[in-house]
Parts: sequence; C-alpha cells; structure tokens
Amino acid sequence: MTNVGIIGLGYVGLPLGVAFAEEGCGVVAVDVDPRKVEQLSAGSSYIEDIPSERLRAVLDRMKVTTRYEDLARVDAVLVCVPTPLSANREPDLGPLVDSMSRLASVLRAGQLVVLESTTYPGTTRERVAPLLEESGLRAGGDFHLAFSPERVDPGRTDFTMRSTPKVLGGLTPACADRAQVLYELVCDEVVRVSSPEAAELTKLLENIFRSVNIALVNELAMLTDRMGIDIWEVVEAASSKPYGFMRFDPGPGMGGHCLPVDPFYLSWRAREFDMSTEFIELAGKVNQQMPYHCVAKLQRALNDAGQAVRGARIAVFGVSYKPGVGDVRESPALKILELLSGLGAELCYHDPHVPLLPQYGLESVTPEQALDGADLALIVTAHPGVDYELVAQRAPITVDLRGVTRGSAAANVVRL
Ligand SMILES: NC(=O)c1ccc[n+]([C@@H]2O[C@H](COP(=O)([O-])OP(=O)(O)OC[C@H]3O[C@@H](n4cnc5c(N)ncnc54)[C@H](O)[C@@H]3O)[C@@H](O)[C@H]2O)c1
Repeated sequence: MTNVGIIGLGYVGLPLGVAFAEEGCGVVAVDVDPRKVEQLSAGSSYIEDIPSERLRAVLDRMKVTTRYEDLARVDAVLVCVPTPLSANREPDLGPLVDSMSRLASVLRAGQLVVLESTTYPGTTRERVAPLLEESGLRAGGDFHLAFSPERVDPGRTDFTMRSTPKVLGGLTPACADRAQVLYELVCDEVVRVSSPEAAELTKLLENIFRSVNIALVNELAMLTDRMGIDIWEVVEAASSKPYGFMRFDPGPGMGGHCLPVDPFYLSWRAREFDMSTEFIELAGKVNQQMPYHCVAKLQRALNDAGQAVRGARIAVFGVSYKPGVGDVRESPALKILELLSGLGAELCYHDPHVPLLPQYGLESVTPEQALDGADLALIVTAHPGVDYELVAQRAPITVDLRGVTRGSAAANVVRL
C-alpha cells in the first residue's frame, strides 16, 4: 500500500488527501492549526467540496495530525501550504520555508516530495531543495523532488481531480517518473514538462490568462457604461463565435486566494531579469478599480431616485468571491461593503455560504429579511439557489453586478 503525506489541509490539501485515501492509500495529513486538526479528526470538514460524510468514510485510513514526525513513514509528501503576498506585495514564502525546514528534520532516503503550492519559477530548485538537503540527503539522488501545480476550482463539479489533467515537472526524469506513478492513482492524465520551472510557470500562465481577460472585459464594462451599451449583450454576442474567442464575464473585481495574488509572484521574479510584466500590473490595476466603479454606479442609481447613500438601506446579495463557495478571501464584496459603510449606508447581506462577517459586525439574513425595508438591492455574487427575479421585483432599485437579472421584466434594474 502506498502511504502519502499531505502538508497543509486547506482547499487544496484536504481534497487531495481524501482522494488518495479513497484510492486505498494510507494518508498522514499534517497541518499547523490544531483546531483544524481536531475538527478533521472528529470527521467534520470545513471545505465545501468535501462533505463530512466523505471525510468520515476514509478516516480509518487517514491520520490527521500536527506532528511532522509522522511523515517519516510515508512514501511521498505533497506540500499544499499557502503562498501569500507580504504587506508590500512580495512573495511570502514563510509557510513554505517553515514547512520544508520541519520536513527536513524527518525526511528519509527514498521519499518523494512534491510541491503543489502556486509559486514563481525557481522555487522548487532554489528554495525547497536546499531546505530539504539540510537533512543531509541529496535532492534528485537520495530523495525525489518535483513540482505539480494544483488546479482545483472550488465549487466546480463538471471537472474533478480525476478528470483534470495534472501538470508535472521533476528535478530529474526519475523524480518525474516516480511522481507520475503516484498521481496516476487519483488522476487520469498526467502532463509531463521538462522541469519544475516549466511546471511552476504553467500554473502562473493559467492564472495570469484569467486575470488579464477578466481585466479586459471589466475595462470594456466601464467604457460601455459611459457609451450606453449593454456589456452583457456584447459578451453574449461575441460568444457566438465558434472559434478564436473565449468568454469572460465582467464583475466587481477579482477575489480568492489565487488570481489577486499569484500573478504578482511572477512580476516580482521578473524584476530579477530586468523585466516588468506590464500585462500583470495593468490587469491588477483595472481589476482593483472595479469595486470603486460598482459603488459609483450604485451611487448614481440612488441619485437618480433622489436619494443619498448616507442612510440608505442596502441589501447585499452574495459576499464570497464566487458563486457556490463560502471563501471571502480578497472578495471584492468586502471592498464594496467597506466603501458603502464609509459613505454612511446601512448594510445587511444575504449569503447562504457565509453566515457571519465579524469584521463588519454583520450576519447573513434571509432574502426576505434583507429586502424588507431595503432602498436598494446590490447583487455582488450570484449564488445558485437565490431567486434573483424576486429580488428585482421586490427591491425599489436593484444594482446587478453579475448579469443575472437579464431577461427580468422588473423595472428599476441597473446592470454593470
Ligand atoms: N484555493 C484554491 O482554489 C487553489 C487552487 C490552486 C492552487 N492553490 C494554491 O495552493 C496553495 C494552498 O492553497 P489553499 O487555498 O489550500 O490554502 P489554505 O489557506 O486553504 O490552506 C493551507 C493550509 O496550510 C496550513 N499551513 C500553513 N503553514 C503550515 C505549515 N508550516 N505546516 C503545515 N501546515 C501549514 C494552514 O493552516 C492551512 O490549513 C497555495 O499556494 C494556493 O495558491 C489554491
């Protein structure tokens, strides 16, 4: 039986650990957060894509712990720790350095280590390998080392871990061979590239591609607002082209742990090569403007009705960064709430996935409660299962940042 270790039990690490356990592997799952370890050990999952029943079904094969020592007995260790930005927007490899130093103290000859966290090209070879070699073992010789980016898209059900090809780059061909055999247990297709650097950059290309295209359509949304053209109609029409166009929808800005963060790992690294990555910076700038544009649009809608933002009762629908998940990290909704609160609005929200927003002293209320006495409904994130026609019919004014009221007969709807 293959024994797999996972470091970091978040959106990436937990589904990965459960997937290997479901294939019959023994799993040692390590996290620094004792509360998470306690909760998972008790069979309660905090990741929406992994229902607690699914976790409980494999707990006899999955040991959840804070102890790195337990990783000494596994065949392979997959590293899924966070890779955030520091306060001055530079890569913060703190969690990665910490986890690799601890792993070095228990690393054994013959083990395979794969980094899955998104990072800049060169991290696996220049940062991870030397830290692990403090064990006295040699990377690519005594132990195998590879990079394989995680492609999980929380909330997505049409593609699974098994049906999403896994990109992989090993420090040596033998490292890649070994990692390929492992991933083929949980994934139908492994796409090999020649180096960890190529694999690291592949993930960044995917995220930057999204970030740039979202920024492009958002910039057009700001322009069409002035031109009096419906951006949703234009996007819909352009999508009828069967080739050479890929649809991206406008919205209130980018959120989540990935798109607002990862591209800047590359722009930081590029500076070492005397390059400034203009597309990345520009996309970040345009996307950061969107919450301000959305608030200005809301302000105009109230103004047209003879109302000020100050004292207006605004019901916000959806505060997580995307539909179907409860993740509020970097969510543009938070920026919008902050701006509206600064302007003196009275705020309430409905989000079936986010029961509380302690930093704003708010808790989610039902759609009916939110609409009761509201001056304006603001649809920021369109979770499935919410009746937006009801929202548009009931609210005196609806500002729709997601295009879900297209086709509604309700009057007083303003769309991005
Ligand atoms: N969330 C996504 O959709 C997604 C998709 C693809 C790639 N990624 C990348 O995967 C990585 C992990 O992201 P995530 O969303 O799962 O993060 P997360 O914050 O949900 O989970 C990370 C976990 O690592 C733990 N941790 C932190 N330091 C640790 C340490 N030293 N030792 C052990 N555990 C430690 C944290 O307690 C946390 O539980 C990031 O690099 C991210 O960019 C995320």
